[in-house]
Amino acid sequence: MAGAVLGTADWYRHFGTIDAPGSSACYADWSLHIADDPALIARIDQWPHNKRQPLLLLAAARYLGAKVSPYAEFRNFLDEHWADVSRTVLSRATQTNEVGRCATLLPSLAAISAAERKPLALIEVGASAGLALFPDRYGYEYDDGTTVTRLAPEPRRQPAAPEPPVLRCTVSGAVPLPDKLPEVVWRAGIDLNPLDVGNDDDVAWLEALIWPEQDFRRERLRRAIAVARENPPLLVAGDLNQQLVSLAGRAPADAALVVFHSAVMGYLSADGRSRFRSTVQELAAGRGCHWLSNEGETVIVQADGSSVVPEMAAGRLRGNFLLLHNGRPVAITGPHGQSLEWLQR
Ligand SMILES: C[S@@+](CC[C@H](N)C(=O)[O-])C[C@H]1O[C@@H](n2cnc3c(N)ncnc32)[C@H](O)[C@@H]1O
Repeated sequence: MAGAVLGTADWYRHFGTIDAPGSSACYADWSLHIADDPALIARIDQWPHNKRQPLLLLAAARYLGAKVSPYAEFRNFLDEHWADVSRTVLSRATQTNEVGRCATLLPSLAAISAAERKPLALIEVGASAGLALFPDRYGYEYDDGTTVTRLAPEPRRQPAAPEPPVLRCTVSGAVPLPDKLPEVVWRAGIDLNPLDVGNDDDVAWLEALIWPEQDFRRERLRRAIAVARENPPLLVAGDLNQQLVSLAGRAPADAALVVFHSAVMGYLSADGRSRFRSTVQELAAGRGCHWLSNEGETVIVQADGSSVVPEMAAGRLRGNFLLLHNGRPVAITGPHGQSLEWLQR
């Protein structure tokens, strides 16, 4: 989004000063150097606009083997591998699948199942590899001491598979933390380009999308992939606005259907977001469904069409996501699922 109004150098400078510090000293350093490297910027500018985004170039280089290093070394790597970097950038997209977000969705999912007295049917739109479709298979540790774990052992675990990830999350406010996991009887996702947990290239790309210093995210990704590999989710290729209604028709009628998404609305136009809201509302009025939206401040759209959160001081959401349940704000969430601040008393 920043790139829609800024030049490419400004985009990298913004990424290096605002987005990357705090998460990756390496990406912050590389991005700032790229911003001041007109020859490289000229090469990046030969790609279509949506391919110039910093994370895509950086992930492509890491996917091809670039090591954490001083900029001069990274620059040499780019020179030596430019054809492959270019091919990777043009054929891939930023599809980070952050399983940690399940920790911020779990209380809402459990509350829906309890209120409806039904097991859940899940549809994630913009699902990437579908790792967030297994909230019932992971462990959770909230920093108030609450742990939620699966009681029964996995029935079909491969002997060599790692244990499922434990997702850690800080909480504040009156979060309705569950004491057990909700039952999920059906799960499916929609993505323009579903990634396949059984495909080694797709898995390598998912790992490359995680920032270099964040080993704990890579580790939980690997563990979540092992869970998904045991019983890969149904993933439909296509646009969420075109696929949602027909996919919802395949969900079991006696389950509580939840349509959810995280970090997806930024990829849609305002018109696309508006059409999606109408589709979900029609689905809710017809078949019945709950809608959980977990998105950044620039693309929040509430039930009344407004993007302003009442009584929320400007800047409170910056760097975070807002979780809405059926269009109503319920929590401020860390973008990787690391924190959950409940808004309701
Ligand atoms: C940043 S990833 C987030 C993946 C996942 N929701 C998560 O939280 O880990 C965004 C995903 O949305 C998908 N996407 C973007 N626009 C879409 C559309 N119009 N229809 C379906 N999927 C879309 C992308 O392909 C990508 O996999």
